[in-house]
Amino acid sequence: LTATTTVLILFQMTSEGAVTLDLESVDSGTLHASLHPAHVEDAVSLKRLASIKWDFSNEHTRQLTHGIHPYPAKFIPQIPAALIEELTAPGETVADVFCGSGTTLLESLRLRRNVIGIDANPLAALISRAKVRPLDKIQTIALRSHRAICQDIAEHLRRGSKDPFDNGVHFVSSGWRPDSEVCEFWFLPHVVEELAELRKLIREISDDTVRTLCEVVFSSIIVTVSKQDSDTRYVRREKIVSVGNVFRRYIAQLDFADDSIQQLSRIVDSELRCDVLNCNVLDAPDVGFFDLLVTSPPYPNAYSYHLYHRTRLLWLGHDPESFKKIEIGSHRKYSAKGVNRADENTFRSEFETIFGWVRRHLRDQKYACFIVGDSTLAGRRIDNASLISDVGTKSGFREVARLERVIQATKKTFNPAIGKIKSEKILILRKC
Ligand SMILES: C[S@@+](CC[C@H](N)C(=O)[O-])C[C@H]1O[C@@H](n2cnc3c(N)ncnc32)[C@H](O)[C@@H]1O
Repeated sequence: LTATTTVLILFQMTSEGAVTLDLESVDSGTLHASLHPAHVEDAVSLKRLASIKWDFSNEHTRQLTHGIHPYPAKFIPQIPAALIEELTAPGETVADVFCGSGTTLLESLRLRRNVIGIDANPLAALISRAKVRPLDKIQTIALRSHRAICQDIAEHLRRGSKDPFDNGVHFVSSGWRPDSEVCEFWFLPHVVEELAELRKLIREISDDTVRTLCEVVFSSIIVTVSKQDSDTRYVRREKIVSVGNVFRRYIAQLDFADDSIQQLSRIVDSELRCDVLNCNVLDAPDVGFFDLLVTSPPYPNAYSYHLYHRTRLLWLGHDPESFKKIEIGSHRKYSAKGVNRADENTFRSEFETIFGWVRRHLRDQKYACFIVGDSTLAGRRIDNASLISDVGTKSGFREVARLERVIQATKKTFNPAIGKIKSEKILILRKC
């Protein structure tokens, strides 16, 4: 840019929906109002975002604490990272209103931004908190002494020892466990006793950060040692889980979490703020202002987190029913019989509420980014990106980019049977 040259910035949508950006020289003064330096910078950032290959195939996705707990439809860290880097500056605040397992939160902190995460799922809030909290030396010692106790028990179980339990091969724990119906249906009897014992040991940890991390590790093994088919299939199938397996798996996961959290502890700036709220975003939580929203909303009819996480939530002492009532997009709500069945308008009206809230909390001229795929409702394909863009436009936002990424069908969290999602959009709206 020279003193005598001005720049006209035009965004164009191609027929494929990709964004192109044109920079044209025009007479000085003609477009004076458009020449705010921030707008030029933003345009360049958007152009850079448009040139990214969003598939990020073959990239490492489990760095730092990203891999400590599985989460259905979790996005890869490279997606929020690219948006945060281009659309905010260090020290600004990012929000994710459907933060799930906290991918945006961790990436924001790594990139030196403050962050606010909201999720209605108590498990999501727990994982998010554990993922972003570093451990100091004393906490690391506490974590490792807990591990040593677990290792002793694993050793006793391996040798088939009756000590410290006195019930033959299958010991009886004095620890709390969910209702017997849940336990009998989903778990082998010795697995219930081992989980109850492990839960008891975790609850004895006095440090909140260490205990949260251990609860997350505990939760991470529950589906594997249960009869639940998989993370996104709430059906029962018989599995062989040997005596001591709960403790062995837990220790292996704990070691991984310890290693991950040490990496995190080396890079996180303790001055940065990270607030995690376990609440319904439709209840308009009071979070103050933020400079960027990056979120991957639940798509209508795609997943039922309250079901997939039911056994984990019950073991953690949470009530999946309360979460079920407020879960957006749940497959259960969209396949319900009668007048209670949710439809496209349900999702639309939920987004009207969300945009009203985002408008109050997002700073002027800042961006709201949605990573979203299509879904199928009553045999009809729903273009969720268009739906969200439409609601956003009516709520005082303007679409500035819609980029496409192909989802790798080999990813574990990808469930082609539900919603037939093969690609997703990165939708970028700007508050007018
Ligand atoms: C696609 S997932 C987000 C995954 C996240 N991006 C990650 O990387 O883990 C959508 C999230 O929306 C949450 N959710 C559903 N209904 C909600 C509501 N009413 N308020 C807040 N969060 C909700 C679900 O619990 C789920 O964690």
